[in-house]
Amino acid sequence: MSLWGGRFAMSMNKTFKKFSDSLYFDYRLVEQDIIGSIAWSKALMTVNVLNTKEQQLLENTLNLILKKVSINPEIILSSNAEDIHSWVESQLIEKLGELGKKLHTGRSRNDQVTTDLKLWCKVNIKRLLQAHLELKKKLIATAENTQDVIMPGYTHLQHAQPITFAYWCLAYLEMLIRDEGRLKDTLKRMDISPLGSGALAGTTYAINRQQLASWLGFKSVTNNSLDAVSDRDYILELISNAAIGMIHLSRFAEDLIFFNTNELSFIELADEITSGSSLMPQKKNPDVLELIRGKCGQVHGALTGIITTLKGLPLAYNKDMQEDKKFLFNAVDTWIDCIYMSALVLNKLKINKIRCQEAIKKNYSNSTELADYLVSKGIPFRTAHHIVGKIVLEAINQNLALEELDLNQLRTFSSKITEDVYSILSIQSCLDKRNATGGVSFNQVSHAIEYAKKMLTTSIVI
Ligand code: ARG
Repeated sequence: MSLWGGRFAMSMNKTFKKFSDSLYFDYRLVEQDIIGSIAWSKALMTVNVLNTKEQQLLENTLNLILKKVSINPEIILSSNAEDIHSWVESQLIEKLGELGKKLHTGRSRNDQVTTDLKLWCKVNIKRLLQAHLELKKKLIATAENTQDVIMPGYTHLQHAQPITFAYWCLAYLEMLIRDEGRLKDTLKRMDISPLGSGALAGTTYAINRQQLASWLGFKSVTNNSLDAVSDRDYILELISNAAIGMIHLSRFAEDLIFFNTNELSFIELADEITSGSSLMPQKKNPDVLELIRGKCGQVHGALTGIITTLKGLPLAYNKDMQEDKKFLFNAVDTWIDCIYMSALVLNKLKINKIRCQEAIKKNYSNSTELADYLVSKGIPFRTAHHIVGKIVLEAINQNLALEELDLNQLRTFSSKITEDVYSILSIQSCLDKRNATGGVSFNQVSHAIEYAKKMLTTSIVI
């Protein structure tokens, strides 16, 4: 039986019921729904709707239900209940009879569902931060072991300037740190309890909402019930965070797919996370990375889905909002999976130092150094840039690296060039010179790694 059957003369069309029910996806809110219901039962006791014994009985029974489903929440799915809120209530009524029917006093599914969702988001933001911590550890460990692995840095997928593999890892660490910052901001903004908002205009019972909020671990309470039951900003924010986080992971994946090409072979992925071809025996495909890149579509689709669903919705609750959970669960599940998978990729990643180093030979990525050298001899940068362009062209024609051109040849382009030019053309010098904060020099990178390690030990998962 539905929660609201009294007003209806006809029972629900079966096909419509299937279309309308949300239990098959919102069953995942069971724990939050029970926690919220226990807190609500305590609130009802403070306003004498329940006596102590009744509240205790409700609380114990709710805990028993929780115990039963925490082993396997999917057992809920065999029920015919409309949604998780109806399911919990029907379980209570089944077990406690009339007493079970008292719990929904002064509460609406409208404040209940958004309370459950906020509680779910809070738990899952913590899981996301934990996942980030794992990936950060792997990035830092990989960076620590690859400070001497010099490879080309790219712009336009063309060799630009030399970097180290460690430096590449630290770039992704920065992105993760920003992702974490966004998650923590989102958490702060959502930490406000909507429970006690009723259907849309507040509850008629003189409940101390602040106390109720603190039982549920919320910092404060919502100010306007019309907004509180309609607000899904926290879902929008969390999915936006996921969309940005997935952009980072997709770029990480794409870089590694590129490094893994037969042509580059800078890296080799562990067998345990690659797969073969049914036809071509030689293949070892980077499926894991392609999936991380591909699953971006799921998360970006979820973002489009939720913003489109909420756009133009009148206040307050509308059934459209029931769909929010599909987007939320899909985005968060996918993001967490992809973070852990990225950590797994780094776990046994082999980095081919020799291949990386070979790639920077004769790639003219020390051209900027030569221009800077001419600047140090008093030539304006733009002129120096032009001279070096000509030297590069000549070197390409002769199939030589810049440092392989002899001094006489170099001097035909500028008489300012002297023997000391060769020391600045070395790749090591290219790296060492970039010693300003954030640069690729060994000093900067090792400081960044030390700092990151320190941050890891003090990093608090809230
Ligand atoms: N299953 C519903 C949802 O997730 C619960 C809220 C129902 N509220 C209502 N007024 N019909 O949105």
